[in-house]
Amino acid sequence: MSSRLVAKMASSYIKTGNKLLLTLLVIASIACSAKAKTGPTHGKLVVCYISTWAVYRPGNGAYAIENFDPNLCTHVIYAFAGLDITQSAIKSLDPWQDLKEDYGKGGYEHLTGFKITHPHLKVSLAIGGWNEGSKNYSLLVADPEQRRRFVKQVTTFIRKYNFDGLDLDWEYPTQRGGRPQDRENFVQLTKELRDEFDNYGLLLTSAIGAAKNVIDQAYDVRQISRYLDYLHIMCYDYHGSWDKLVGYNAPLRAPEGDVLSVEFTIDYLLKMGAPPNKIVIGLPFYGRTFRTPRDGNAGDVTDGTAFQGPFTREDGFLGYNEICNILSNKTSGWTTIWDAKTSQMLARSERDVFSGLVQVVTYDSARSIANKVKFAVEKKLAGTMIWSIDTDDFRGSCAPEDDIYADYKYLQSNGHAIMPKRINSNYPLLRTINEATTLALDEVEQTIEDNEIPHGSIEDRKNSNASGNVLLQRSLLDLIAFVLFTYHLVF
Ligand SMILES: *[C@@H]1O[C@H](CO)[C@@H](O)[C@H](O)[C@H]1NC(C)=O
Ligand SMILES: *[C@@H]1O[C@H](CO)[C@@H](O)[C@H](O)[C@H]1NC(C)=O
Ligand SMILES: *[C@@H]1O[C@H](CO)[C@@H](O)[C@H](O)[C@H]1NC(C)=O
Repeated sequence: MSSRLVAKMASSYIKTGNKLLLTLLVIASIACSAKAKTGPTHGKLVVCYISTWAVYRPGNGAYAIENFDPNLCTHVIYAFAGLDITQSAIKSLDPWQDLKEDYGKGGYEHLTGFKITHPHLKVSLAIGGWNEGSKNYSLLVADPEQRRRFVKQVTTFIRKYNFDGLDLDWEYPTQRGGRPQDRENFVQLTKELRDEFDNYGLLLTSAIGAAKNVIDQAYDVRQISRYLDYLHIMCYDYHGSWDKLVGYNAPLRAPEGDVLSVEFTIDYLLKMGAPPNKIVIGLPFYGRTFRTPRDGNAGDVTDGTAFQGPFTREDGFLGYNEICNILSNKTSGWTTIWDAKTSQMLARSERDVFSGLVQVVTYDSARSIANKVKFAVEKKLAGTMIWSIDTDDFRGSCAPEDDIYADYKYLQSNGHAIMPKRINSNYPLLRTINEATTLALDEVEQTIEDNEIPHGSIEDRKNSNASGNVLLQRSLLDLIAFVLFTYHLVF
């Protein structure tokens, strides 16, 4: 039973004054606590990508399948498999990590094996990714015979390893060596995969680019939405060192006319015909880095270079775990600035005395994540997607953030501002997503109620019966929510 249902029953208890109902309610909540239901309980999707090459990162940055926590995700996606265009077939890009043959580590079956103890979990295999390029996918989808062979082979392949579905990560149709006809051919591929997958109850999803020009050229949004179960929107990389200006990696909102924001992307896809309950909003567990001779504010010109972290070792990119380790070091000299408009954090170093440059990283802090979760709930989206959980602070080595729910105004004003302390300190961002989803469902519901009868308004005061009722309902609901929430944290 969900906490919402318990809450609904509680409010009907208040209306009817039925003692029997309350007794039943108490029994029911005890009974449903005893039943072992695995995974998140808030009812929204939490789609976790693992970039499986993270296993090769040095030291504490190394992320193996053993590090995955299936309690924190509803879906997990193994990224990436590749395309063998000569065979029209999906193939492992790292047989030693992925497969069991020749004493391999069997990563595919290791990940799908989590379903035994965690039956809620859906495990998909992603094909594509940035490094696979676009050209071979363009060739595959253009030929009906190749598409037919691919659809048959990929179905056999994912069933062989006990995956629940396939995630298409072609970046992107019509782009980067793709051709204009990709747009239509991609629809055809999703249609044919859907027809085959329906025979086996398999999930079909796709990663979707966030830039307006990519959406315009690559996707017939209305058509692919018919055949895909979910669209995983890659709402990040809006700005980076390529701009030669300090900018935010994934701004929630932007000034009017600026198409580079999460809000623009989601609103645009909705306008193009994607149903909200199929849209999964992407959240980056990483930031974008810059070097500037100026002070290190957003908009400052950079010298065009960027820097890398000790784990991910890629110029222009820092995992959240790398960022929070720098910030947890009191002698590092780094400081942070919160930007309310974009819900982004900017962190910068002291000026280097030799180069005269300041290092900057823009990223999603836990507060950014909490605000985007609230946005997703307000827009009634299916849930959230994470690229990628291997750069969360999965070992729990950083100091916790303390301003996570600063923008949850209703909950703040009703005494929820100080959240119960977490038992576990690892995966702080992923835990924030789950916690924030539960809280945002309340926050948004209450905000809507408040909008119907604004607190202290003339209507509110006139209708004294109702307002008394609402207050009583709220305190009981808060109590129940608190009990369930604490229970959820402890177990
Ligand atoms: C595309 O396929 C060709 C032929 O198999 C292969 O040589 C090439 O590496 C592939 N391209 C990419 C980006 O994988
Ligand atoms: C903390 O930062 C200082 C200054 O950059 C550095 O010398 C030191 O090694 C860092 N400590 C850790 C534990 O990373
Ligand atoms: C309060 O409730 C009673 C009984 O339901 C009703 O008769 C009365 O009109 C209500 N008063 C107001 C101000 O709504």
